[in-house]
Amino acid sequence: MGVPIIIDCDPGHDDALAIMLAAGDPAVDLLAITTVAGNQTLEKTTLNARRVCTVAGITDVPVAAGCDRPLVAPLRTAGDVHGESGLDGPRFPEPTVDAVPEHAVELMRRLLTEHPEPVTLVPTAPLTNIALLLTRHPEVRGRIREIVLMGGSTERGNRTPAAEFNVHVDPEAADIVFRSGVPVTMCGLNVTHQALATPDVLARLEGLGTELGRTCVELMTFFAGTYRRLYGFTAPPLHDPVAVARVLDPAIVHCVEAGVTVELRGEYTRGATVVDLHGYLGHPPNARVALTLDRDLFWDRLINAVATLGARANP
Ligand code: RIB
Ligand code: CA
Repeated sequence: MGVPIIIDCDPGHDDALAIMLAAGDPAVDLLAITTVAGNQTLEKTTLNARRVCTVAGITDVPVAAGCDRPLVAPLRTAGDVHGESGLDGPRFPEPTVDAVPEHAVELMRRLLTEHPEPVTLVPTAPLTNIALLLTRHPEVRGRIREIVLMGGSTERGNRTPAAEFNVHVDPEAADIVFRSGVPVTMCGLNVTHQALATPDVLARLEGLGTELGRTCVELMTFFAGTYRRLYGFTAPPLHDPVAVARVLDPAIVHCVEAGVTVELRGEYTRGATVVDLHGYLGHPPNARVALTLDRDLFWDRLINAVATLGARANP
């Protein structure tokens, strides 16, 4: 059996591929998918998680909806990036995978308590659900193997000049997570911008000859248009699967220990992750910070996972 994980996400094009990587690679055992408001409203991110599970044939993993707004800040979604639905591009069938009635935080608490070994949490969205879990149920902290998140950046932001989207949406939640004492690995924009879905990657997905491979190409094609229009990228960065890849095989994502502080008060810098790579502040390191990605290993694992799921869905 693989490393037990729970993905907490806001699908979202890159969240969709993160779910597929986790479900299709035997190195991890995907216990649950929880959703939160972020890229789109909670209703839409939850519908999108159900859509992804339906097209990828992920029928044995509970999907649970969580928080519909940040802890303190007003909800700011990213329809400009992911479209009105939050997963624009492909035409999805009516989902056949339902969400469970349990709140995401309760489902995480229960699984952490019941699972025979500690569980890795992989948040790829604003950290509202995770922060609520840690504050409402401190007794489960010892059952968390580590938190491997996509968020923040050692450099600049993508929602403000200083702040990355997931942290910017709910900075208070991110602050709680980084101060929690639970082992945290941060996969920020500095490393996820190395995961560019270039034309050769799309050609490999197309070459799988499966409906799921085609759906992934349509997702990436929409995402490419967004990133070209908004950021001038020639190919879209696949942020969220990098966090999953770190769990699959730490050799794929090289990390260093550093002190990470979330800026909560800066007029122009609220939501920034201040990463002290050289110990200037004298704070003890509280996170592993990802710096480099092994692109070949990353894309091989991702494409293999899509191939595995696609073959299962259309034998
Ligand atoms: O900044 C990138 C992050 O924000 C990704 O998780 C993307 O899905 C959005 O949620
Ligand atoms: Ca996301």
